[in-house]
Amino acid sequence: MVNYKKILVTGGLGQIGSELSLELQKRYGIENVVITDIKNEIPEVLGQNSIYLKLDVLDYEKLTEIIKKYEIDAIFHLAAIFSGRGEEDPFNCWNVNMNGNINIFKAAIEYKVKRVFIPSSMAVWGIGIPKENVSQDSVLRPTSMYGVTKVAGERLCEYMFHKYNLDCRGLRYPGIISSEALPGGGTTDYAVEIFYEAIKHKKYTSYIDKGTKLPMMYMPDCIKATIMLMETDVEKLTCHGDYNIAAFSFTPEEIADEIKKLIPDFEIDYKPDFRQKIAESWPASIDDSVARRDWGWSPDYDITTMTKDMIEKLSKKLK
Ligand code: NAD
Ligand code: SER
Repeated sequence: MVNYKKILVTGGLGQIGSELSLELQKRYGIENVVITDIKNEIPEVLGQNSIYLKLDVLDYEKLTEIIKKYEIDAIFHLAAIFSGRGEEDPFNCWNVNMNGNINIFKAAIEYKVKRVFIPSSMAVWGIGIPKENVSQDSVLRPTSMYGVTKVAGERLCEYMFHKYNLDCRGLRYPGIISSEALPGGGTTDYAVEIFYEAIKHKKYTSYIDKGTKLPMMYMPDCIKATIMLMETDVEKLTCHGDYNIAAFSFTPEEIADEIKKLIPDFEIDYKPDFRQKIAESWPASIDDSVARRDWGWSPDYDITTMTKDMIEKLSKKLK
């Protein structure tokens, strides 16, 4: 295990940030994880003893004050605007995602932060990719502003590594499914909403159309991959942008069939919206062999074990 003294998490109250922060607290000590977000309220799951500070990642002065004060040596930069929200206001998406990244790079270089994690997404893909098993080095021609910012973020990570020796790394997350915080305005949010609606109303209207297969991953695997990558020695990495990772893929009707095994009278219908076009530009499955080779990645959950765990956890929570 790498011995980070103090960890900063940005976007720490989001879908991934809240569960990642909790795991980092368990691993490194609650007093060593500084959780930040632009939101006001800290969720119950993180506990009242958590260190929480309000931070807009566009505020460079406040960001550097926090890095200095807490002597931060590792950053998990998760604050971002998602694909769905990004298409509603593409210029704001560029502003938050790119200027947020630039502030993190500048501050990390200035204050000699040991290691930085900036996630990317399957949204980096678009035109000219094979639908199945898209490889680590495939062409990156996204069709959403969110995807454009993720490609630029990856290339900047690699640039900062070579130019400033900044140890920056990341993962191309597929759609992440979780039972705690809700996702924040993405194209794959349907794969979380469907569980809430199945338990509450036994019915879901999907904004992603029948037959649209997308790569997905359960949150425990997302957290595992993130921490594994951040604890891997730099010498082992052959990729200084973002690694492909994968777990399983499904269409809306396939996940509905899995849910029906546990909630037999569940029904799904379809009303695609603007997110359908984004989903169609993404791959159906991802080749993660480089991550498996370089740092031993493999997922623990498949669609069946994820569905069972989601329904158990959410049923308890929604009671
Ligand atoms: P989320 O939308 O749930 O959380 C993002 C957090 O960032 C939110 O809590 C939001 O309040 C915060 N934020 C937004 N603007 C901010 C600003 N200016 N300053 C500070 N905080 C700000 O997203 P998430 O699912 O937790 O995603 C985290 C990262 O993982 C993002 O970079 C996202 O692009 C990436 N990612 C997520 C998924 C997924 O399915 N969840 C998939 C691919 C990539
Ligand atoms: N889950 C994300 C989204 O739908 C993928 O990056 O935007």
